Amino acid sequence: MVDRKFFVGGNWKMNGSLSQYKSLINDLNKAQLDPNTEVVIAPPALYLLPAKDLLTENKKFELGAQDAYYKPSGAFTGEISSAQLKDAGIPWVILGHSERRTIFKESDEDVANKTKAALENGLSVILCVGETLDQREKGDSIKVVLGQLEAAASSINDWSKVVIAYEPVWAIGTGKVATAEQAEEVHKAIRDWLVKTVGKEVGEKVCVIYGGSVNGKNAKELASQPDIDGFLVGGASLKPEFVDIVNARL
Ligand code: 13P
Repeated sequence: MVDRKFFVGGNWKMNGSLSQYKSLINDLNKAQLDPNTEVVIAPPALYLLPAKDLLTENKKFELGAQDAYYKPSGAFTGEISSAQLKDAGIPWVILGHSERRTIFKESDEDVANKTKAALENGLSVILCVGETLDQREKGDSIKVVLGQLEAAASSINDWSKVVIAYEPVWAIGTGKVATAEQAEEVHKAIRDWLVKTVGKEVGEKVCVIYGGSVNGKNAKELASQPDIDGFLVGGASLKPEFVDIVNARL
């Protein structure tokens, strides 16, 4: 079995304020974080640069944006681009989050274009996939997730810069976490797909993380599953228990 790193992302979504982001970043700077866990924090774009100034020299975590448009610049009011993230020294970006797909109507093609642009700009990508409750109840979870993955895969030529986040839509922000077995089943399918599609050596190294109502209490059990390599955390990433999630493998 390949020894993959453990990876935890904190997606703050559209939360926080000038005073709150400072205390959250400073608390993380002071926290005892498992040195073997890679941590990425994604505050709203507005706070990325001031947050970067607060990172300590022995950076215990890195910063990511929650989305980035694929065109480098131009008349796209309200957007920021991967090229601009690169220019600003922000190394990570979350793409294809279900809130982008459902609320902002992003298509698989949009996500593929964004993935391509992010990688071309040297960014690392947390690529989100996940099924709705309706799709799960129809027994289509794996089909949907692999379909979303396939749509983005043609844009990916360097899998070492990609983390896949499996985020079942019905578990996001609902307090209804997937059971360890439910999550493991999909993670295993993603792993098998990766090995089959991009080859054993590369496919086994890609981190596949889980997101959806992860908290300080359920993280350990989920983290004990063989194909769950970490988490993408929403609500709990704004709370002190985020440290327990980062340290779930300790
Ligand atoms: P919650 O942890 O709030 O369910 O959100 C998960 C998520 O969407 C992370 O990207």
